[in-house]
Amino acid sequence: MKLSGNKILITGGASGIGLGLTERFILDGNTVIICGRRESALIEASTKLPSVITRQVDLSDGAERLALFEWVKSEHPDLNVLVNNAGIQNWMSVDDPKFLEKTKNEIVTNIEAPLHLTHLFVQLPQLTTVINVTSGLSFAPFAKVPVYSATKAFFHSFTWSLRHLLKPKGIEVIELIPPALNTDLGGKGLHDHAPPVSEFIVSIFEQLKEGKDELTFESSESRSKASAEELKNYFRLMHPEN
Ligand SMILES: NC(=O)c1ccc[n+]([C@@H]2O[C@H](COP(=O)([O-])OP(=O)(O)OC[C@H]3O[C@@H](n4cnc5c(N)ncnc54)[C@H](OP(=O)(O)O)[C@@H]3O)[C@@H](O)[C@H]2O)c1
Repeated sequence: MKLSGNKILITGGASGIGLGLTERFILDGNTVIICGRRESALIEASTKLPSVITRQVDLSDGAERLALFEWVKSEHPDLNVLVNNAGIQNWMSVDDPKFLEKTKNEIVTNIEAPLHLTHLFVQLPQLTTVINVTSGLSFAPFAKVPVYSATKAFFHSFTWSLRHLLKPKGIEVIELIPPALNTDLGGKGLHDHAPPVSEFIVSIFEQLKEGKDELTFESSESRSKASAEELKNYFRLMHPEN
């Protein structure tokens, strides 16, 4: 993709990886629209980055997704990049009393919402690029986040097909595959051990410049290329308890 002069919608762009992408895309001369549920996070982001355009949306609600699309179509018809970044992560086991409720929430946020948005936004005549944020856990799951890992495996698989399906329309599909990074995903403190988002962003933009469409960082690089046997070993390493 070209790295400047785009108009980009980044879902979940007010925090973590989304905020890192927002900062860098603005620095490189792009117009960025971000959305999320928390008004306070959107205000904080626009205080830091005055040019950013914000929209409060709960993407787990289909009607709100449609309203977001209609607003973009009428106010920003020149939008050419959709970044499906928003996601949630539930640490739970199958005997969690709220297992089903949390599962539904994860599936609607991590799968249904980006698929619906993609379906809507490919209707914009200017659209050139879809960027999907999956995970290193797309390749081998972490059992403490069992449904989250499965949603990312789903989204990784879908992203492959999407790239193929959109090629004839001239729309490129780029997958960002982060390993664990230090954000508030899943709850404050759970990712404190992980590398900062800033290092990931530097690496991602180098890879974008090289024209890559599957962008990895540190351990997600080896996982994305691992054999089935290597992935089983990786799973064993992540679960030393049994
Ligand atoms: N950090 C990691 O270790 C890691 C590793 C691999 C992949 N990822 C992926 O990277 C993406 C970004 O996560 P992050 O680590 O940057 O965590 P984060 O800071 O918690 O970002 C998630 C963003 O998604 C937004 N969001 C969640 N549910 C939403 C909803 N229903 N409607 C609208 N926005 C919603 C959140 O905003 P609101 O709360 O304001 O709605 C937040 O800005 C996710 O897809 C995640 O799965 C992260």
